[in-house]
Amino acid sequence: PAHHIAFEQSAGIAAGSRFVRACLRQPVDRTPVWLLRQAGRYMPEYMAVRKHHSLLDICRTPEIAAEVTITAAERLGVDAAIIFADLLLPFTPMGLEFEFLAGEGPVVHRPVRTAEQVRALRTDRVDELSYVAQAIEKVARHFSAPRVDGDQLGIIGFCGAPFTLASYMIEGGSSRNYVETKKMMYGDGAAWPLLMEKLVTVLVGYAAQQVEAGADVIQIFDSWVGALCVADYRRYVLPATAELVQRVQGLGVPVIYFGVDTASLLPSMAETRADVIGLDWRVPLDEGWKAVGRGCAVQGNLDPITLFAPDDVLRERVREVMTAAAGQPGHIFNLGHGIVPDTPVESVIKVVEWVKEFSRHE
Ligand code: CP3
Repeated sequence: PAHHIAFEQSAGIAAGSRFVRACLRQPVDRTPVWLLRQAGRYMPEYMAVRKHHSLLDICRTPEIAAEVTITAAERLGVDAAIIFADLLLPFTPMGLEFEFLAGEGPVVHRPVRTAEQVRALRTDRVDELSYVAQAIEKVARHFSAPRVDGDQLGIIGFCGAPFTLASYMIEGGSSRNYVETKKMMYGDGAAWPLLMEKLVTVLVGYAAQQVEAGADVIQIFDSWVGALCVADYRRYVLPATAELVQRVQGLGVPVIYFGVDTASLLPSMAETRADVIGLDWRVPLDEGWKAVGRGCAVQGNLDPITLFAPDDVLRERVREVMTAAAGQPGHIFNLGHGIVPDTPVESVIKVVEWVKEFSRHE
């Protein structure tokens, strides 16, 4: 099948990429670094594009999505580029309409609240998302040659995790208490598992397109999973999430599984058998690594708001994360969550430089 070819191609690329090597816990010349939301509103180059295009226009136009992805990675000097897209894009082929409202974030017009609505969700139109794969192809072509230091830049495709996507579908947008989501989870023994299963089907197909197009690694964002206690995570979310992780790994790429506010969930998240667990900033990196076990790589976990701190404080905080990782194979430096608007670009660039300075193996 086609993904076997992609696997062989990306396996060839992987050998020269310190980012991919670190995902597999192989030794690297220095700690790889990239940053969540590295292409975002803090960056003037992104805002210049946003002046003329909506967020969804950018996502759905491969030339522009690729340009935004490439510009951010090159401006920052990071070791991986994450494709510019959004978690909610798969909603359209599933039959849900949504939009992004300024200041409010995503709004789903007719939130999914009943078993009948879950049954109506489509899983057979993933092909409509091919614009994301087309953008990845352009990014992969741009970065096909090794950089000056001989390293191959890693290309990250991504999708949402079943719980986080279900929460947007059911709440109709961002949420504080996830009341409607938990109502379906606790109250409808048929609708919830069916929703999880449908999401896994769509997300595996979507990830396969991205891998075929040249993604070296897939990151699965479970941004809001920290709303769950361990028992509910294990009962209602872990089975579908583990299935997703393992089926994406079956495409031939390492998987990064990331959530926020996950300190208590980390051992259970590691049971998905993801190659890398993304740590948020609340847990000290060494404790988080212990919690997931040394069989996983870890990604993280500087508090993104430290980017507003004076240089001496920020530099020390970067050093603390590096010290906690202790140069062990399998650490990818990142933030504990995304860069927020108004973050000083110079501070972001300095963090990348400091990671390189602190981690270079002589
Ligand atoms: O470099 C990058 O990381 C950018 C690519 C990217 C976007 N969304 C573009 C975007 C990625 C990886 C995402 C994933 C995403 N989308 C997540 C998971 C990451 C996380 O932060 O936990 C989530 C939860 C979403 C859903 C989403 N999209 C929300 C809640 C919002 C509004 C909040 C906000 O920051 O404004 C968005 C909009 C969005 N997606 C923006 C960007 C750059 C900002 C809005 C804009 O440009 O108008």
